[in-house]
Amino acid sequence: MPQLDSWIVLNGGASSLVLEVVPGEAPLWRYWGPRLRDGALPPGALRSDRPTPSFSPEFDQPLSLVPGLGQGWFGEPGLKAHREGRDWTFQVTDCVAAQEGQRAVITLTDRVAKIAVAVTLALDPMSDVLTVATTLTNQGEGVLEVQWLAAAVLPLPDHARSVRSFSGRHNTEFVAVDDALTRSQWRRENRRGLTSHDCVPGAVVQAAGCAYGAQLAWSGNHCQLIDWVDDGRWQWQLGEALMPGEVRLAPGQVLTTPEVLATCAADANGVAQNFHAAIRARMDWPGAAMRPRPVHLNTWEGFYFDHDEAALKELADAAAKAGIERFVLDDGWFHRRNDDTTSLGDWWPDDAKYPNGLGPLAEHVTGLGMEFGLWVEPEMVNPDSELYRAHPDWALQVAGRSLITARNQLVLDMGRAEVRDYLYERLAGLLSELPIGYLKWDHNRDLTAAGERPSFRRQVLGTHDLLARLRAAFPLVEIEACAGGGGRIDAGIARFTHRFWTSDNIDAISRVGIQRGYLQFFPPELMGSHVGAAPAHATGRIQTMRFRNHVALPGHFGVELDLRKLSERDLERLGEGIARYKALRGRLHAGQVWQGEGADGLLWQAHGTATDLILMVTRIDPQTQRHAPGLRLPMLDPARRYRVGEAEYAGAWLVQHGLSLPPLRGESGLVLEVTAL
Ligand code: GLA
Repeated sequence: MPQLDSWIVLNGGASSLVLEVVPGEAPLWRYWGPRLRDGALPPGALRSDRPTPSFSPEFDQPLSLVPGLGQGWFGEPGLKAHREGRDWTFQVTDCVAAQEGQRAVITLTDRVAKIAVAVTLALDPMSDVLTVATTLTNQGEGVLEVQWLAAAVLPLPDHARSVRSFSGRHNTEFVAVDDALTRSQWRRENRRGLTSHDCVPGAVVQAAGCAYGAQLAWSGNHCQLIDWVDDGRWQWQLGEALMPGEVRLAPGQVLTTPEVLATCAADANGVAQNFHAAIRARMDWPGAAMRPRPVHLNTWEGFYFDHDEAALKELADAAAKAGIERFVLDDGWFHRRNDDTTSLGDWWPDDAKYPNGLGPLAEHVTGLGMEFGLWVEPEMVNPDSELYRAHPDWALQVAGRSLITARNQLVLDMGRAEVRDYLYERLAGLLSELPIGYLKWDHNRDLTAAGERPSFRRQVLGTHDLLARLRAAFPLVEIEACAGGGGRIDAGIARFTHRFWTSDNIDAISRVGIQRGYLQFFPPELMGSHVGAAPAHATGRIQTMRFRNHVALPGHFGVELDLRKLSERDLERLGEGIARYKALRGRLHAGQVWQGEGADGLLWQAHGTATDLILMVTRIDPQTQRHAPGLRLPMLDPARRYRVGEAEYAGAWLVQHGLSLPPLRGESGLVLEVTAL
């Protein structure tokens, strides 16, 4: 890789970044934002035109790629580490910056503290997503205790104004939280041991004329902060939140952070589109390409733990008849699992419910032309299980402290090879013996005290290791990431999986907001969206089958109810919904996604391209206006003409005035195809 001695410039299609290379220092952040013309570089060194303010060190330390402690940087440092209280300052003595294409590797060494930090930045010109990861090497003699290592330190311009992050809980994922950026530090930290429902590891920052997005590809504890900088800019750091003593690097040992995906675009829709493109490019599909997302039937809300082989076969018959393509047998199938108090860990079929094993049901399903999928929750164990009785020490614990159960279960120590081997053997056994095309991989609790020494990080890496091993041995099997619904939705687990279970709440009204938040970060084809029963189990609310179909349409469509109990009319409507999904899925899951709000509470989203869109309009509350105003579609080409349903429009009319819509009732939706002529 050629070495650089002045500027690092990475260009995407619509964004650029500029770092100033200074000998013997960490490069200084000069710019990240909308695309600069080629050659549009700063006129000179940053320090050349900023005099030292009063009451300031003579050495001026601007925002750098890895801001260190104890060098005159008073903002949040990108690294906090020490060796028994010493070597706590980080001041770069040597910097080697190399660049090839739109990828740069910057290696920073502090010869005094004997620490090396290498940052890799790659700006993908196709998606405009910048991927950043950082490694830290202990080059000293003693153990280096690491408290914090930012995976990325990103600059935000002085005109950044607000940040949208996402909070929530089980059954209520992706609750948008808007905060103004002020001189107080903004910080979101998650200590639940998995990605969490409560704190999405990413955010979107609004600035004047553009928006910035970043997300951490990690399924464990995480932290992000935005910190005001003395020169009016901001720094945005994202990384893994480490617990005390969690990372203690022996001499020569290396810590590698998860990756950060970051992007700058015209607005939040642009940020989402860039993220979708980047995640799509990272996906590892069986057969190297995504096939049309099959319509699911999931047994959970229709059957819960009450598995009856004959009834499930009837359900499969009804599913095949309705046009369903994948049948997922959820929780309740394994050894003595009759409720949520027992058996996690005992991954063999219950011989009372399935006297001949799962083979007959699985073959019945595949015989009907559907794929057979199975639910598992490998990282968990119930104290009341054969596994726990045989290996009580396999659960994460701290000697002398009581074990804290959640949903009656404990967490296995995924850092231990024998635990992973046991799980591999069990899962590989099922996958080899049965015609299983799909695993729904659940994780139904947060982690509390994760081991004698905090093992949150080991836990994530252990699970990734098990997933990778299974993917390598069974490359045709797709995997769904679930954690009580959307507790583990992140770009890290997406490397190994093919679908997210977005939420256990499939009430169509609740789902509108949850799915809109989800789409800010991840593409629709990975978004599990089901038609559930009415009343909805999570909320008790009742919605029409048409509305339930409508809300499930944009994602990876599924059905989660007992089809045998549906009325003729609902079954027919569901059949229409399934047929429409099949007709549109190729286009719903290929292009870009735009989301917006019309007047009077109208919500819309459009999937596709500026010349071929599927427009989904959703109304939750009844219309308050006698006549609806036009729905403006800003992404269309004003120079083209468009067909919408039966009518023809000038593109400019749809962009500026908007589409005239028929009156919509509350809890209803409209799907329109908008095609350039
Ligand atoms: C979690 C999942 C559900 C279902 C249950 C089974 O809550 O999110 O979809 O699989 O576990 O116990």
